[in-house]
This record gives sequence, C-alpha cells and structure tokens, in this order.
Amino acid sequence: MNKTKIIITGGLGFIGSHTVVELIQSGFEPIIIDDLSNSELFILERIERITGCKPKFYSYDIGDYNKLHQVFTDNNDISACIHFAAKKSVGESMEIPLTYYRSNLISLMNLLEVMNEFKVRKLVFSSSATVYGQPEKLPVTETSPIQKALSSYGSTKQMAEDIIEKVSATGSLQALSLRYFNPVGAHSSSLIGELPKGIPSNLMPFITQTAFGIRKELTVFGNDYNTADGTCIRDYIHVVDLAKAHVNACEYLLADKGDLSHDVFNIGTGLGNSVLEIINTFEAVNKVKVPYVIGGRRNGDVESIYAGCDKANQILKWKAKYSLEDMVKDAWNWEKSYRK
Ligand code: WQD
Repeated sequence: MNKTKIIITGGLGFIGSHTVVELIQSGFEPIIIDDLSNSELFILERIERITGCKPKFYSYDIGDYNKLHQVFTDNNDISACIHFAAKKSVGESMEIPLTYYRSNLISLMNLLEVMNEFKVRKLVFSSSATVYGQPEKLPVTETSPIQKALSSYGSTKQMAEDIIEKVSATGSLQALSLRYFNPVGAHSSSLIGELPKGIPSNLMPFITQTAFGIRKELTVFGNDYNTADGTCIRDYIHVVDLAKAHVNACEYLLADKGDLSHDVFNIGTGLGNSVLEIINTFEAVNKVKVPYVIGGRRNGDVESIYAGCDKANQILKWKAKYSLEDMVKDAWNWEKSYRK
C-alpha cells in the first residue's frame, strides 16, 4: 500500500530524527534531507534499527535550490513537509547574525518556492518559544504578545513565521508553526539522542557531559533572578513528546481543514522548572553528581517562561506524557550509551 510521503528537512538532527521514528511508526514514509552540518550519518542506521525501515536520505543543503528541486523531482508524490533544518544556537546567532538570517531564511524561502512549484500544500514549521521574549504573563499562550526577539536566532523564527503567514494567505499553503519550549531527553532505546557539536550551549547536554566527566563542572548562569531559588525557569519537554506533536500536526493538516491557512501552537508541558531543580532531579533519579558553580547571568536569557498548551491539546489532540524524571533518565542513558 502506498504510504503518505513526508519530506523532513533536518531529519537526522535531534528533534528531526525522533520525529522520523514516530512518523514511520505511525505509518508514514519520511524522506530525509540533511546536510549533516549539525547531525551525524550513523543516526540513519539507528533509525533503521529502531523502526526496521531505512528512510530515503539526501545529504543536501536546502540552501542549494537546485539540489532541493531535485528531491521533489525524484519524489513526485509528496503530501507534506516538516521543516527543521536551521541554525539554532542563541549564543552563536549573536556572533554571526548575517549567517543566521541568510541560512535560516533562504532555506525556508527555497522550500516554499519548490513546494509551490510541485503543488505540495502542507507544511509543519519548527518554530520556538523564543518568539515570545520575556512574557509579561505566564503561562504564555499563542495570543500572548510577541516581544522583540532578544537574539538573531529568535528573530529568524519570528521572520520565518511571518513569511509563512504571508505565503499561506495567498491560498497556496496550509501551515502549522509549532513553538517548541525546551526539548530534552532521548528515545528509550538510547540509540538516538542529542548530539551537540563542541561545547554544548544547552543545559541538559552540558549536565550529562559533566556527569559523565567530559566537562569539569556546570556553570549555572545566574542565581539572582526573581524566582523561588534565583535560577531561570523553563518548560522542559521530552523530545519524544515533541516528536509525537509533529505526527499529530501532519494528521491534522492532511485531514484537509479547508479553512486553514496558518496557525501556531505552543508545544510544551505547561510546567516550569528552574535550573537547580533540573540539576537536583537529574542527580536524584540517576544517582550521579553534577558538580556546578554559580556564574553570572547569560546575555539574552529570559527569567521565566512556560507554556499554556490547551490549544494543542484541543485542536491537535496532543498532550505531553513524559515526566521530568523520564527526561533526565533518558538523557543520561543516551549519554552513557553514546560514550560507550
Ligand atoms: C536553559 C536554562 C540557561 C546552559 C534555547 C533556545 C530555544 C531552544 C532551546 C532551539 C537557561 C541555563 C544553560 C548552561 C545554564 N533551542 N543554562 N548553564 O536558552 O532556554 O533555549 O535552547 O530550538 O529556542 O532559545 O535553553 O538549555 O540554553 O538554557 O545555567 O551551561 O539553563 O541560563 O536558564 P534556552 P538552554
């Protein structure tokens, strides 16, 4: 039986690879495009070991229009695209903003152009909670005001959502932008997980590498915030919950909601945890110490943010299921398995 084909840009990355697994297990046929700039080829074999299927893979940069066009020529019955491929480091984006604007926006515009030419009308876009900046009210909902992005990375996500909004308004596209909170953890098999290149900028991989002894200690970026323990609060979500949200989003889009052009959804748990709570939970669940020191605040950090997810619960029929304990356990199991 012909399966529904979905193109996944960035499909070997952290969220992309977990989404490919869930799509296969939900009966879809994902086709991966990934330039391996922030992922590893061995993840493709790991996807096959988990699912029994080895997805078609193109090692292309979607910033190359002709290469992207080739993928659509080779596979003329694509039903939808999920667009993950983008540079995503907040800190790096402040050092090389033009690279971020060029890379993240040109790749999106290339994809939208080619989708239009081949009449592929459905898009799920990887957006981010960074579009909210520091919300005045919490939990933050999709109708919360969008503040000026604090980083070039966040700015590319705001601009991307606006481009998608304007293209959808022409009637040529139906799109969902999923605003992720903080994805952490790994698949229960420990065969796929987060693979940060170099020194991790995100909290969880820095914790797991410190626990493993690769890093001497974690620096907690500030404990003088106006929170219960002085450290920043985030909405951490298990990467498998996040992956499943993409399956629900595809199913919603493919159910052909005639009046839909572009809609946005918060994808989080609705719970906020501080940096120290993450460290303490990680140590308690995994029975391993995470040496840390308190350092200064990091530029661009918001004090506290966590999601209101009623909209995704009701419309996408999606709700996060994994606990913080599951997240820290799976993250640690992946780190140990990867370092074996
Ligand atoms: C979380 C908290 C840090 C490292 C970013 C992007 C977001 C998404 C996830 C791409 C903060 C603190 C961190 C460390 C620390 N990226 N921290 N010491 O900045 O909330 O979100 O990554 O999709 O779009 O904005 O995540 O993990 O970097 O930080 O104290 O060594 O941990 O200050 O409070 P962030 P993070």
